[in-house]
Amino acid sequence: MAKTRLKNIDACVFDAYGTLFDVNAAAAQCAAELGDKWQPLAEIWRTKQLQYTWLRSLMDRYADFWQVTGDALDFAFDTLGINDAGLRGRLMDLYLKLEAYEEVADVLRTLKAAGMKTAILSNGSPKMLEAAAENAGIAGSLDAILSVDDLGIFKPHPSVYQHGVDRLGVPAERISFQSSNAWDAAAAATFGFKVVWVNRFGQARERLPDAPDVEITSLHDLPSIVGVEG
Ligand code: LAC
Repeated sequence: MAKTRLKNIDACVFDAYGTLFDVNAAAAQCAAELGDKWQPLAEIWRTKQLQYTWLRSLMDRYADFWQVTGDALDFAFDTLGINDAGLRGRLMDLYLKLEAYEEVADVLRTLKAAGMKTAILSNGSPKMLEAAAENAGIAGSLDAILSVDDLGIFKPHPSVYQHGVDRLGVPAERISFQSSNAWDAAAAATFGFKVVWVNRFGQARERLPDAPDVEITSLHDLPSIVGVEG
């Protein structure tokens, strides 16, 4: 996809996990204990976490992302034959302190300094998102941290994206939404956001109704894409 410039953008709204925060960081930091299981654990944990958000939304059985994340970790432990309450506690604790990807703090500072509105819009619970943003030193560069917890349903339900519009007071077509999750990027495009897919993991594009406007591999180029000179 060619690099495009998005015009008339007033707000940059970010997915959290995988986009700003490194979802594999918790398992990676326990690599010494997990040995060669750390990567399968990270993979199963994340995949199951997302599946549970979709399943619970379809079943109309919302539970917050902290519970879903713990349930997914328990599933991953079971799958890999791990039974260690101390390790479980450490992994969950590390999830509150996930590192941000290296360019994130600078990019957010640049956007903010240029007068762009900035926000997180995420499945994460407020407690998780606030802890991760504080830990990564990016809370001061965000105008809002918006959670699906206010709605009781997860992405990609359109009401989640609408929540961003309502809370920021910016029309959908003037919001640039960034996600590394291909399905989230596709759904946000269907909703009506301008969408930048941060394809950090070299994923194939989704076969869903709508496609993102721009594809990049990290957030480095976002300021110039939305018309802000770094
Ligand atoms: C989030 C998940 C989808 O932050 O990464 O909403």
